[in-house]
Amino acid sequence: MAKERTLGIIKPDAVGRNLSGEILKRIEASGLRISALKLIRLSHEQAERFYEIHKARPFYGSLCAYMSSGPITVVLLEGDDAISRWRELMGATDPLKASPGTIRKDLGVDVEKNAVHGSDAPATAAAEIPFFFSAVEIHDADFK
Ligand code: RTP
Ligand code: MG
Repeated sequence: MAKERTLGIIKPDAVGRNLSGEILKRIEASGLRISALKLIRLSHEQAERFYEIHKARPFYGSLCAYMSSGPITVVLLEGDDAISRWRELMGATDPLKASPGTIRKDLGVDVEKNAVHGSDAPATAAAEIPFFFSAVEIHDADFK
């Protein structure tokens, strides 16, 4: 098992419904470590840059408007196989298709307002983490 870092976002629909604590509780209960955390609000232009990879998709405009519509809670997660473990906790993109017990199944509203984001591969995580966090904001997750 490889020790990995991944980026998680608690999206505006979940922050707006006071679900940050519930989602952070699930993350901590899973054994993943939180090594950076903050509440911020993206501008529309920043959301466009973050989701540049989806530029050609039909939902790009709506996604960028939604992701800049309110504050988000951003976390850096660390642990063995953190990327796939976080995506398993999140569940499938569409809450209707997500497995029982996943965050999106339990807390998502629809395919866009699906509560959380997670990096999908090591290269994506490596690009997404510095988009939100500078070196001084990242802490040793294994401190005792
Ligand atoms: P994420 O990037 O947020 O972790 O989600 P994901 O990998 O499961 O899904 P992705 O295909 O990367 O899509 C990014 C986000 O765009 C919104 N979306 N809307 N209207 C639609 O059909 C649609 N499809 C995707 C969701 O907010 C999705 O998480
Ligand atoms: Mg994705």
